[in-house]
Amino acid sequence: MKIDVLLGLQWGDEGKGKIVDVLTPKYDIIARFQGGPNAGHTIEFDNKKFVLHTIPSGIFNPDTINVIGNGVIIDPFILKKEIDRLNESDIGVSENLLVSRKAHLIIPTHRLLDAVYEEAKGKDKIGSTLKGIGPCYTDKVSRNGLRVGDIEQNNFKERYNNAKQRHIRIIEQYNSEYENIKIDGQVFADYERSWHEALKTLDSLKKINSEYYLNQQLDAGKKILAEGAQGTLLDIDFGSYPFVTSSNTTTAGVCTGLGIAPKNIGKVFGIFKAYCTRVGSGPFPTELFDNDGEILRKVGNEFGSTTGRPRRCGWLDLPALKYSIMLNGVTELMMMKADVMNQFKKIKIATGYTYNNIETSELPFDDNDGNVKPLYTEVNGWGSDISIASTYYDFPCDLKNYVKYIEDAVGVPIKLVSFGPDRKDTIIRS
Ligand code: GDP
Ligand code: IMO
Ligand code: MG
Repeated sequence: MKIDVLLGLQWGDEGKGKIVDVLTPKYDIIARFQGGPNAGHTIEFDNKKFVLHTIPSGIFNPDTINVIGNGVIIDPFILKKEIDRLNESDIGVSENLLVSRKAHLIIPTHRLLDAVYEEAKGKDKIGSTLKGIGPCYTDKVSRNGLRVGDIEQNNFKERYNNAKQRHIRIIEQYNSEYENIKIDGQVFADYERSWHEALKTLDSLKKINSEYYLNQQLDAGKKILAEGAQGTLLDIDFGSYPFVTSSNTTTAGVCTGLGIAPKNIGKVFGIFKAYCTRVGSGPFPTELFDNDGEILRKVGNEFGSTTGRPRRCGWLDLPALKYSIMLNGVTELMMMKADVMNQFKKIKIATGYTYNNIETSELPFDDNDGNVKPLYTEVNGWGSDISIASTYYDFPCDLKNYVKYIEDAVGVPIKLVSFGPDRKDTIIRS
């Protein structure tokens, strides 16, 4: 068997959580492969709404195993809150959640480092979620990190304190009053206590050597779906650097983040919104600053699932979509939030750019100076409610034309169209 992959093709928040949940009954295992609690994956069904940050979105199906892979970074404090919230809602989390021993830990001083680094950047700030992502992955790569498996070792306390002291020496250079910086509403000392308390939750979860487990399960014929976090345009290598996250959000991340050989990658589901959004700083060629952007934000409820920040909104960007399809080897597309565009009579789609007045269909090396200008084509909107659709054929012609236009432009079929946040607001084309 091969592992299928679902990942975002834009700047995150495409609706990955919703679709992983929709597809979960078809899979035995759902595995997160990168990112950390900067992710916020929303799942809605039966008038209930959940936002997951670390736990894979397959957790709502009692027959599915969920794996947090080695490429993920875990904050025990945030993970505990997620587990508590699920347990309160009678979504059992126990044997159905497995954690890689090789996943790195976000410790409280990673969050302080994130805060002081971001503050020091001033107007050039990345707009980080401040969950300690950059500092934790930095420690991983510089070979200073702490891993889940280290909790089981006798010298964990000593290693934790060494890391903490090393971080504090840096933090003090930025802010000598770091003890007063609030993390999730608590001053450092209180937060650190809560963090250590939460570590016990992680201790009680089943820890595995996930690379062996997943490969053995594939050999045994089990179906596995890898769940991406963030989006391709936030990838550390291929995103709009430095306004990116600190992991490989692309298909390549599945190989390193789960220990899967490239030859064992199966289908790659690329998920995108019918328009674009971005939260945080960085280039966004099709961003709208007018009433159309306001409509997308309002109707799409475009406010961050992790931070609550308003998301920047704009038209669909085909060169960026093609770039993401190329990097990931996308085999099937899924288009989200079609309903958000119901009221538009006309819709713009970027088909190319001018960069320093020269036409191009490629994203330039450095597009942070605002010199990338989109070239648009205009198509008819459907201008009607689509909530009653139960098959693809029920959609208005102009929506089907929009789908066809995108398919023809990018050369990959759109196999799923989503038209509402609930599980059931989804049409899979046969
Ligand atoms: P993720 O990070 O990719 O899982 O996406 P988020 O959960 O951060 O953001 C997607 C938001 O859009 C969530 O609030 C979803 O409930 C919502 N959503 C998902 N699909 C649709 C859709 O087709 N239509 C509408 N209106 N909302 C959707
Ligand atoms: P999901 O999985 C949208 C953005 C942040 C910031 C940049 C770096 O829900 O799609 P970081 O916290 O990694 O230091 O932030 O990346 N970002 C996201 N934007 N969705 C996400 O995840 C994101 N995770 C990080 O806003 O611009
Ligand atoms: Mg999100």
